[in-house]
Amino acid sequence: MRERIARLREDAVAALEAAERPEDVEQLRVQYLGRKGKVTELLRGMGSVPPEERPHVGQLVNALREELETLIGRRKETLAAAALEARLKEETIDVTLPGRGPVLGRRHPLTLVLDDIKKVFIGLGFTVVEGPEVETDWYNFEALNIPPDHPARDMQDTFFITDDILLRTQTSPVQIRTMSAQEPPVRIIAPGKVFRVDADVTHSPMFHQVEGLYVDEGVTFSDLKGTLTVLARELLGRRPVRFRPSYFPFTEPSAEMDIECIMCHGAGCRVCGNEGWLEILGAGMVHPQVLLNVGYDPERWTGFAFGMGIERIAMLRYGIDDIRLFFDNDLRFLRQF
Ligand code: PHE
Repeated sequence: MRERIARLREDAVAALEAAERPEDVEQLRVQYLGRKGKVTELLRGMGSVPPEERPHVGQLVNALREELETLIGRRKETLAAAALEARLKEETIDVTLPGRGPVLGRRHPLTLVLDDIKKVFIGLGFTVVEGPEVETDWYNFEALNIPPDHPARDMQDTFFITDDILLRTQTSPVQIRTMSAQEPPVRIIAPGKVFRVDADVTHSPMFHQVEGLYVDEGVTFSDLKGTLTVLARELLGRRPVRFRPSYFPFTEPSAEMDIECIMCHGAGCRVCGNEGWLEILGAGMVHPQVLLNVGYDPERWTGFAFGMGIERIAMLRYGIDDIRLFFDNDLRFLRQF
């Protein structure tokens, strides 16, 4: 019997030491100390032990039971501690590593230019309005005093959808829509996409314009010059500007505004075609016929209007030589702004 006890003890200790997982230890506990366990079985076998030895053998079995209970408890603790250790190691976070910041977006160069234009005109009491990109012939041409045989209507320039519906070729139709919907005074700018059948390094079939319109009593050409001079200074810095006579069917008189060449400062270079000047916008006094077309009395109201290409301003301002860069969305380009 003593021998059985000793052997059982040795087996149990060896098995415990070999146990790698908490559930293995638990299994051993049931196997040895459970109701049908091997130690319990020993006690049941006491009948075959001579009576005088029973107290002693009983003590041995109880001592074994206690010892195994202690060993099992310890083994469980050891395994739990090891498991925790392993988990901590695996989940280690090095709080001294540099953080991964959120990727910051940037405003598109065209948005930067437009935001500056808005700032100038909002400061002057203008409102920003928008109009549809798909227009009728009336708003894009007819009401703007562009007769049916005007070359701007040519299939070469205009994306027609039907005979009467087209993609607007300019933001000027927003002038007509605004004046048709309200009485003077009118002070608006109208930014947006325009479309022309044209594509090379300085022309894109879709590009952006900003229209400006100011109609009130007593608006003069001086107001036009003063306002646009302030605009040019804000957009491209303080440099000489000039107004050249020009022609638009919907303004009279009409002008184009130039600034001194950014590259050569007037000396003449490749960028300005040896002119020393760069054209930046078209403008003029709203044609009396246009005022009549929207129901305004040209004897009472006068106004000026202008239109400028946002891509053109951005190209001059940032020294960009290919308009397609604005629309490629190459991050290497966009990240520079
Ligand atoms: N709409 C003209 C263009 O696209 C620009 C312009 C606007 C000229 C307003 C005069 C007045 O070229």
